[in-house]
Amino acid sequence: MTEFPKDFLWGGATAANQYEGAYLEDGKGLSTSDVMTNGSHTTPRKITWIKPATGETGYVEMAFGKSINFPKDAIPAVVDGYYYPSHTATDFYHHYQEDIKLMAEMGFKYFRLSINWARIFPNGDDAEPNEQGLEFYDKVFDECRKYGIEPLVTLSHYETPLNLSIKYNSWTNRKVIDFFVKYAKTVMKRYKGKVKYYLTFNEINCMSMMPFVAAGLLTDDDESKAKGAHNQFLASALTVKAAHEIDPEIKVGQMLAFQPFYALTADPKDQLAALKANDWTLFYSDVQTGGRYPDWILKEYEEKGIKLDDQPEDYELLAKYPADFLSFSCYASSTITTHDGQEVSGGNLMGGVTNPYLKTNDWGWAIDPDVLRIALNILWDRYHKPLWIVENGIGVKDQIAEDGHIHDKERISYLQQNLASMRDAISLDGIDLMGYTMWGCIDLVSAGTGEMRKRYGFVYVDRDDKGEGTLKRIPKDSFYWYKKVIASRGADL
Ligand code: BG6
Repeated sequence: MTEFPKDFLWGGATAANQYEGAYLEDGKGLSTSDVMTNGSHTTPRKITWIKPATGETGYVEMAFGKSINFPKDAIPAVVDGYYYPSHTATDFYHHYQEDIKLMAEMGFKYFRLSINWARIFPNGDDAEPNEQGLEFYDKVFDECRKYGIEPLVTLSHYETPLNLSIKYNSWTNRKVIDFFVKYAKTVMKRYKGKVKYYLTFNEINCMSMMPFVAAGLLTDDDESKAKGAHNQFLASALTVKAAHEIDPEIKVGQMLAFQPFYALTADPKDQLAALKANDWTLFYSDVQTGGRYPDWILKEYEEKGIKLDDQPEDYELLAKYPADFLSFSCYASSTITTHDGQEVSGGNLMGGVTNPYLKTNDWGWAIDPDVLRIALNILWDRYHKPLWIVENGIGVKDQIAEDGHIHDKERISYLQQNLASMRDAISLDGIDLMGYTMWGCIDLVSAGTGEMRKRYGFVYVDRDDKGEGTLKRIPKDSFYWYKKVIASRGADL
C-alpha cells in the first residue's frame, strides 16, 4: 500500500492555552496556564504566587519530576513584572479566520483545538456559562464548516480554571467531577451537530509528572495524584455516558502521552525497568480505555498507604463507560537503564538516558523513525480500539531566510520518517488508525518551556520570546509539502 485509506483524517492540532491568547477577553476567567511565565531549555518556567493577606509575591519553578511546593498561604496569581506567554500566545482569538483558511489550503480534514474551560465557566464553579465564550467557539466551528473541516475538541488541555485550583485543590476533590461534567454537557449540547469527536483530558498521564500544569493540583504527593487521576477517570466515564445520551453520533476519546520506553541493554533488569515504565503510562489507558484498574497499581497503592476517595459504584461506572477510542501524542521514545554512568537524556518529557542509535533535536528529544509504528502496535495489541495520533512533530528554531521564506528541511525530514512508520503500521500490521493531527500546525507557545523559538508549525508566526512581533503568518516549506502529502493521500511523502 502506498496510499493511506480514503477516510484517513488528516489535520493539525493546537491548544487554547498555547494558541488562543485573549486571556481575559469577553468574560474569560484566569486559567492555571495564565500564571506560568516563559522559560527555556535550561531555565524552568515559573508559577507565580501571591499571599493575599500580606501582598508578598514570589514563584515556584516548574521542572519535570521536581516537587512544587507553594509557600503557606500563597495562591497562584498573575504578578507584575513577569511575562506570561499564554496571555497573547499567537492570538488565534483574533486570527481564527485567517488561520482556518490556511488549514483549508493545506487540505485539512480535521482541526484539533481545545476549548478553554475558563472561557465557558470563568471560575469553574459558576451557575451559568459565559455566553460570549460559547459564541466564540460557535464562530470557530462555523468557520471550519465553511471549508469542510471537522473540529476535534479537547475539553481540557493543560488548563484548569484557576479558581478550582485555589478553592478545591482541583481534581483531588470529587466536587470538580461535577463541575467538569456540567461544562462538558454544556458544550456538547451547544455544539450538537457541529462537533462529533471530543477528547477529555490532554495527556492525562502527565498529571503524575506535572500535577499543576496538567491538572491544576497545588499538591504533588502520591496520594493527591492518585486521587486526581481517579476523579478524572470518573469524569471521563460520566462524559462518555452524557455524550451518548445527548447525541449517539458523538464519540469521546482518551488522550494519552505515549513515549514508549526502550531498554538500553538486554540485561533483564533493564527489560523489567522498561516494562514497568511503560506500565506506568499504560495504567491511565488501562483504566480510561480498558475500563479497569490493573492489579499492580492497586498493590502499589496498598504498599504506599495511598487511599482513594472512592466508592464501590465508581468501578462499575469505569467498566461501563470506557473511552470510545484512544488518541495519543507521540514525539519520541525514551531509553531506560539500571546501569550507572549513562548520559541522562536532555529533554525528553519522560526522562531517560541517551539512546546511542538516535539523534536528538535541540531540546534533547530523540528523533526516532520507528516510534510511531512501535507505539501503535503496543496500543492496538493491548486494547483493540480505534487509535488516533493527535500530536506528533518536532520543535525547531526556524529562521526566515534572505528570500523571505522558511526552509524547514529538518521538520519535513522528521515528518517523512514518521508518516512512513505510521503507514507501515496500517498496511503491514493491520492497525485501525483513524487519523493524524500534526502538533502545533501554526506556531504556538511551547508547553514545556513557554518559548516561541521552539516552533512546530507549518505556518510561521512573527512573535518572539519577549512577546514582540507583528503576529504575521508565513507558510513554511513544510506547508506546501503537507498539502502535497494530503492531496496524494500520503503516496507522495
Ligand atoms: C505535548 C502537549 O506534551 O507536547 C502539548 O500536549 C505540547 O501541549 C507538546 O506543546 C510539545 O511539547 P513542548 O514542550 O515542546 O511544547
